[in-house]
Amino acid sequence: MKLRRMNPQDVEQVVRIQQSIIRQPVSDRWRGMITGHVDNDEQVGFVAEADGKLLGFVLGEIKIGGFGSEVTGWIKMVGVTPEHMGSGVGRALATSLFDYFRAQGVEEICTAVRWDSGDMLAFFKNLGFDRSPFINLQLVKQS
Ligand SMILES: CC(C)(COP(=O)(O)OP(=O)(O)OC[C@H]1O[C@@H](n2cnc3c(N)ncnc32)[C@H](O)[C@@H]1OP(=O)(O)O)[C@@H](O)C(=O)NCCC(=O)NCCS
Repeated sequence: MKLRRMNPQDVEQVVRIQQSIIRQPVSDRWRGMITGHVDNDEQVGFVAEADGKLLGFVLGEIKIGGFGSEVTGWIKMVGVTPEHMGSGVGRALATSLFDYFRAQGVEEICTAVRWDSGDMLAFFKNLGFDRSPFINLQLVKQS
């Protein structure tokens, strides 16, 4: 398995992986968001590849200020093809992103997970994450 930065030719395979996880088509906006993680040092993407096929992807973002630390790295999304889940691909992807963050001077790495997403919570806990001092707030538009 090879880990590398995402390039423009990967976008369609990343879209297919996401669609196989969520079992529905992604929006044009989602596809555009992925494209925004190519050739960009603040919004990055890494992919895991074997035999010319992508096994998974991870998206990260570097935020300057505002979260207690000067430079914070965010894991925005991680996805592994269903047939390769549970074989170390997600961990390898996260490690690539952590190495990149470290090289960019990131001191703190954050992510957000749905409270009822047991698999994602277990995955991140396994990587060493714990509850942060922040709480997420949201404002849902009233109709
Ligand atoms: C969560 C996910 C990224 C993990 O990647 P993965 O390649 O399957 O995970 P890994 O094999 O690298 O596992 C790393 C560790 O996390 C833990 N882990 C991973 N998936 C887990 C699960 N579903 N339940 C419990 N623990 C899990 C394992 O215990 C493993 O620890 P180990 O190395 O000590 O065995 C991947 O399974 C995935 O894409 N899941 C779907 C995500 C999803 O539903 N997204 C919703 C839309 S965004």
